[in-house]
Formats: sequence, C-alpha cells, structure tokens
Amino acid sequence: MNHFSFHDDELYCESVPLARIAAREGTPLYVYSRATLERHFKAFDDAFAAVRHLTCYSVKANSNIAVLRLFGRLGSGVDVVSGGEIMRALKAGIAPEKIVYSGVGKTRAEIERALESGILMFNVESAQELELISRAASEKGARARIALRVNPDVDPQTHPYISTGLKKNKFGVSIDDAFEVYERAAAMPAIEVAGIDCHIGSQITSVTPFVDALSRIKAFVQRLRALGIAVRYVDLGGGLGITYNREEPPAPDQYAAAVISELGDLDCTLILEPGRCLVGNAGCMVTRVLYTKQTELKEFVIVDAAMNDLIRPSLYDAHHTLTAVRQQHGPVVRADIVGPICESGDFLAHDREMNRPSQGDLLAVMSAGAYGFSMASNYNSRLRAAEVLVDGSEYHVIRRRETFDDLVRCEMIPGCLG
Ligand code: LLP
Repeated sequence: MNHFSFHDDELYCESVPLARIAAREGTPLYVYSRATLERHFKAFDDAFAAVRHLTCYSVKANSNIAVLRLFGRLGSGVDVVSGGEIMRALKAGIAPEKIVYSGVGKTRAEIERALESGILMFNVESAQELELISRAASEKGARARIALRVNPDVDPQTHPYISTGLKKNKFGVSIDDAFEVYERAAAMPAIEVAGIDCHIGSQITSVTPFVDALSRIKAFVQRLRALGIAVRYVDLGGGLGITYNREEPPAPDQYAAAVISELGDLDCTLILEPGRCLVGNAGCMVTRVLYTKQTELKEFVIVDAAMNDLIRPSLYDAHHTLTAVRQQHGPVVRADIVGPICESGDFLAHDREMNRPSQGDLLAVMSAGAYGFSMASNYNSRLRAAEVLVDGSEYHVIRRRETFDDLVRCEMIPGCLG
C-alpha cells in the first residue's frame, strides 16, 4: 500500500499533484512519500514485535539523509557498507550502537572509522578481514564486536546479480569454514564474538529461502554454543521483495511469522536489514517526454530521464510500471521508453503498451524509491536529479538538482597543460 493515487485523472503523491512538483522543481525528479515510508517501516517493525529485535534499514537502497533521519526517528538502526554510509548515518542522527557494518571489502581506514564511532558490530566477510579488524582494534585499545557473515548456500530464486547466499557468490564465509574462523575469533583479545549474520539476496518473493537459511544458522549457533562461543545476535540480512509488476511477495507479517517460528527459542536478538521493502514503493521518478518518433520497426518515446538516473531496467532488465501523470485517453501504442544517453541499453521500458503520450507529457516511473537515486551516476555528464519528500499537502526538496559546477567540482587541469 502506498500513497500515490489518481484524483480526477491527475496522479498525486499524498495530497500534492506530481505535475505541480515537476513544474516547480523540473525533471527528472525523484518523489518520495513520507506517509508511505512511515507506514512501511511500522508494518515491518511491528511485525517483529513479539521478539527482541533491531530493524537496521539498509542504507544502500536509498541513502538520502532525510530518509535516514525519518527512519531513525521511528527507532530504526542501519546496515551500512562503506565509510560514506557510516558518515551519512551519523549525520542523520542514527545512534552508533544501532549500526551494523557489512561488505566484503572494508578498508583499514573504514574499519578504524567504524571503531572510533562505536558501531554495534562488524559483519565480517573473510578470515583476513577478521585479522585486520583485530589488529586495528588492539592498536586502538578497543574491542570490536563482530558477527561472521556465513554463506548458508541457499538459492533465493532471484536475479543472479542480486543473489548472494550461494556457494559461488563472493559474500561471507562458507558455513563449512565458518566454524574454524569463529574459533580463531574467540581467541582474539580485541574481538568480541557477538553474533552471526547472513544475507542471501534481494527481491525474494517467498519465505522459504529465508526459513532455510535461518534453519542452517540456527543449527550452527547451537554448535557454537556447545563450544562455549556466545552468540547474542542473529542477523538475517534483508531481501524481502516488493511488487513491481505481478510479483506476490509475502507481506511483512507473513515474513515475520515464518522467521519468528523458525527462530523458536534460540534466545537471540534478531537483526533485520530491510531495504527495498521499506522504500521501493514509497518513491517514483517523474520524467518528461522530450520527443516521440516512429521508425520502420518501432515507436520510441524519448524522455528526459536515462539509465544514469535509474539503471535497474538496463542492468537487470527490471520492470517498472510507467504511468502518465495526467491520465491519457489517446490510442494505445506499444513503445520503447528510452533516455537521451548514447547507448542502446539506455531504456526504461521495452515494448510497453500505453496511451500514446505527447511531447511535454509527464510520466511517472513507479517503484523507484529503492536502488533508484542511490545508483544514479553522472554518465554522459548528466546532472543528477533532485529528490523531494512529500509530507501531506507539502513537499520538501531533500536533494537539490546538481549544477554544471557540481559536475567538475573535483576535477582540475594540471599546470603542465597550461
Ligand atoms: N543487507 C545486505 C548485506 C545487503 O547486501 C543488502 C542488499 C540488503 C541488506 C538489503 O536488501 P533488500 O532488502 O533491499 O533486498 N541494486 C539491486 C539490489 C542490490 C541489493 C544489494 N544488497 C536492485 O536494484 O535490485
């Protein structure tokens, strides 16, 4: 359920017509609904109310500091994967003791920064990373809390690029090797073994892979405990899917019920790292039709948003529903919706049936709140879009549109070039 709906043929976000925001702020433009973000967070977090848990929103899905502040105020922690995300989280006011830090390639500088901030725990992804964290912590006279990210080898049945819990993936330590790494960790004075972590993939539309992963984790925790290694946290990662098109993912309470039932009496604090399911359907990207053209083979709708603004269709062949911001009643056509970038892979949709739009019309690309702006780039020296947060009958710009000066701000011409 989200707060984008039509009134008198006009698409609104909460009580604000999208056309009004686009007229003032320009396009392409990301629009998020505060009410939807809050509703999604509460639905997810409340679903786990029966167990000790911490919801750690996954910053990479949508990293805007206003979005982080909003979730933080609702009690959320965060899952981060870089020094930049730690900086964002702290700037947004997230308490360090609610930050978990994942990622296969943490640098020494990032590890030190995390130690100085006093984060809740590192989700360690290799034996070498563990050694480095231990060295960095002992040099600082600190003790680093860690969980080992184990790879439970379950198939999440999702797109191969976003499947992470299989043996062939680069993530974590295989469950067979993890035991030995835990024994080493338990013997390191600067390391406190606090938990166990896994994340099996993204856009998962059934509870089965989560339950399978948790059941393997649970058996493993029991083995660790038998050895006297305390495990207080079980981090199940993120991954719950959303409806882009016809998918029917479990609702948060169905997901939670399955997880809670599998967790049983393990006596651990459960950590969850939802990203997409909190923000995906709380945002859309608004774009304007620049031109339409009919070639011998195809009809093209050329819009002012491109793969640099929303890369999901190009990268994963992902489906995003496209809606005219003012409902059209013209003839239905089948068209490719494409951007201005000089690559044939620059498209938002292929062979999409829609009422033929006209030059200047606005289209909303739905379900763009997750992995939309956060994956945007400046390719083709395009300025990154603005982001706004709608709140009832008002809206706030939470990231201004970039300027040409922003584009070259970090570049310099060396003296030798005159
Ligand atoms: N935790 C970890 C360790 C992760 O790597 C991820 C996502 C999450 C949590 C959040 O997963 P979610 O609940 O959002 O599924 N760019 C891709 C998705 C990549 C997901 C990467 N990891 C896309 O646009 O579909």
